Amino acid sequence: MIDYRVDDDGIAIVTWNNPDSPVNTLTDASLAAYETAMDRALADTAVRGIVVTSAKRDFIAGADVHNFLAARSVQELEARSRRASALIRRLETAGKPLVAAINGTALGGGLEITLGCHHRIAADNPKTRLGLPEVTLGVLPGAGGTQRLPRLIGIRAAVPLMAEGKRLPVADALKAGIVHAVVPADQLIDQARAWILAGGEALQPWDRKGFRLPGGDLTHPGLQEFMSVVIAKVHERTAGNYPAPLNILSCVYEGTGSPIDAGLDIESRYFGVTAATVQAENLIRSGFLALNDARKLKARPKDVPKAEFRKVGVLGAGLMGSGIAHACASAGLETVLLDREQALAERGKAHAEKLLGREVERGRLDADGRAAVLARITPTADYATLAGCELVIEAVFEQREIKAEATRRTAEATGPDVLFGSNTSTLPITGLAEHWPRPDNFIGLHFFSPVHRMALVEVIRGRQTSDACLAQALDFVARIGKTPVVVNDSRGFFTSRVFTTYFEEGMALLAEGVAPALIENAGRQTGMPLGPLAVADEVALDLLHKVITQTRADLGSAYTAPASAPVIELFVEKLGRVGKKAGKGFYDYADGQRRLWPGLAEQFPVAATQPDVAAVKQRLLHIQALEAMRCLDQGVVGSTTDADVASLLGWGFPPWTGGVLSYVDTVGLDRFVAECESLAAHAGDRFAPPDSLSKLAGSGRSLRDAR
Ligand code: 3HC
Repeated sequence: MIDYRVDDDGIAIVTWNNPDSPVNTLTDASLAAYETAMDRALADTAVRGIVVTSAKRDFIAGADVHNFLAARSVQELEARSRRASALIRRLETAGKPLVAAINGTALGGGLEITLGCHHRIAADNPKTRLGLPEVTLGVLPGAGGTQRLPRLIGIRAAVPLMAEGKRLPVADALKAGIVHAVVPADQLIDQARAWILAGGEALQPWDRKGFRLPGGDLTHPGLQEFMSVVIAKVHERTAGNYPAPLNILSCVYEGTGSPIDAGLDIESRYFGVTAATVQAENLIRSGFLALNDARKLKARPKDVPKAEFRKVGVLGAGLMGSGIAHACASAGLETVLLDREQALAERGKAHAEKLLGREVERGRLDADGRAAVLARITPTADYATLAGCELVIEAVFEQREIKAEATRRTAEATGPDVLFGSNTSTLPITGLAEHWPRPDNFIGLHFFSPVHRMALVEVIRGRQTSDACLAQALDFVARIGKTPVVVNDSRGFFTSRVFTTYFEEGMALLAEGVAPALIENAGRQTGMPLGPLAVADEVALDLLHKVITQTRADLGSAYTAPASAPVIELFVEKLGRVGKKAGKGFYDYADGQRRLWPGLAEQFPVAATQPDVAAVKQRLLHIQALEAMRCLDQGVVGSTTDADVASLLGWGFPPWTGGVLSYVDTVGLDRFVAECESLAAHAGDRFAPPDSLSKLAGSGRSLRDAR
């Protein structure tokens, strides 16, 4: 776990080398091994200094987050922090010079190990990131980070790094003063040794007599003002949903004015209460571990050999098609972009070129890289160009006949054994598959707009889709760097069906006379990216109108109109306000600004009594969880985890909840069911909890454990 050797100059090289994981993490066992190795070096009079490094590609990825999930109490979490903190403190005051030779990424507890060394040298590696990202997991630096970083680089520089969890490239870490030097990788250990041999001092800045915080302490009026502004901004950003950033500020506020030992004590207390929150559990379990598992295809059928992709086709060069082509070509795939006319295909390629131009502007791609990606996109109107593709994805108009025609013509060009993916967002896959000679090789690949920013692909299994086809489609999604969630074929699939309930509920509230500003603010305060009415405008009301008309026609007497239907019909049929694309919907859009349409007051007079904001927030989130639960019961989505991942990546369901079904456990299953029953009595049957949930209530089990 920790390799130990002493070289001829009396320098101990202590190397983190966790045998059971691709990354080094802080666990009870690894910290105990580190302590043993360090004590050995400290006790050995022949050792004059210690270099701490790693044998892995990365240095240390931080504390092992599984330990936080397993911990049962605030006290246990606090004790974990105290143990790590006490060890690091004892080592930095033990009298021998310590150098961190940072060979790769050092995050969280990993960076904190280095901050407990007297000198830090990083290898010059463009992939390395250094930072304290704990806040993104709902916790805070608990091994001295909130105390050492401000004492090292000043409060003004340290606070944003910790409150936002930024990960810095080594050059930026050098500029910020977090590391002392950046050197070529092959000189790392020699340079670290050289610092010790040159008489490097075993004394931290904060242990020097007369130490002052760089940039001043919090008695400085400028810093007082700085902290007030940061606190206000954090409140605005988190709307009370995330305790970690405020607790980080408290650690700095309360800890940096005292000697470091008192500061470390304060930090451990805040660590315990923060890591024990449901938000921390949710962000670790869903936001980190479940997303990681989905990204790595851990649920992929295992017995199908991995599919390799070299050439793919995209039918339809509109916004979605050209976005998909951009993603494929960026991932190194030869990409045929086909439309019914050459000029349309060229226009799609031009869209990809624009996206690449932005990447060049942001420094993420150089001119040669852009040229290479563009050269991989072949715009065409000739189906014969599709020959040799391993996969063809159609992103043509959402009309059955147009899709059927494109599917048939592709089969003529490629033969039947190629995988065929449909980017439909509404039409059932099983029906579309009839037009492909091998329906077992047909699958839904539902991308989200804008494709270059949205990580999710909803992979939809038709009734005849084979396991092999599913596995290969998953390989493709991973190949282009996206994250798949598998769902079964049904109306609206999973994401559209659940997300729709959010803005439909917003419209139902409006129809009841709830003030539009209250609805929108409540939506944003839940942590959803936009208020529900703003979302409806983005989606476009005429599209929603079409869906209602189509569904009514398809379902006949089984159809029940959503509570939003009268509002949508009014806006489309009478008012002609169809949403953002028309410059008018629930909002007026002018000069890049969005303002609630003043005419709303006349159409939907505001009721004399208004609900409180908590009640509106509850309706907007509960309704989504209920629909997701129905999808789980109907087998549209396979697990609570899949539902969570799809909701986090697909429509920005608030991460503090852990996702749309973890939200039920976040509220508390029994309480959730009781609240839904009460809402069903007052707001409508759509809130009636499904039997599956009611039966679980009172069992003492969580939804996540039960399903
Ligand atoms: N705890 C537990 N497991 C971790 C981990 C951690 N801190 N960091 C990474 N892993 C696991 C991953 O889950 C993955 O598991 P798998 O093999 O089962 O899929 C494996 O290590 C490899 O990780 P990635 O697939 O993510 O590898 P990458 O090379 O893509 O990325 C990384 C490496 C940049 C280190 C990335 O894993 C990462 O960002 N990790 C989290 C870093 C972090 O947030 N650290 C703070 C932890 S909290 C803390 O330190 C508290 C302290 O202050 C007390």
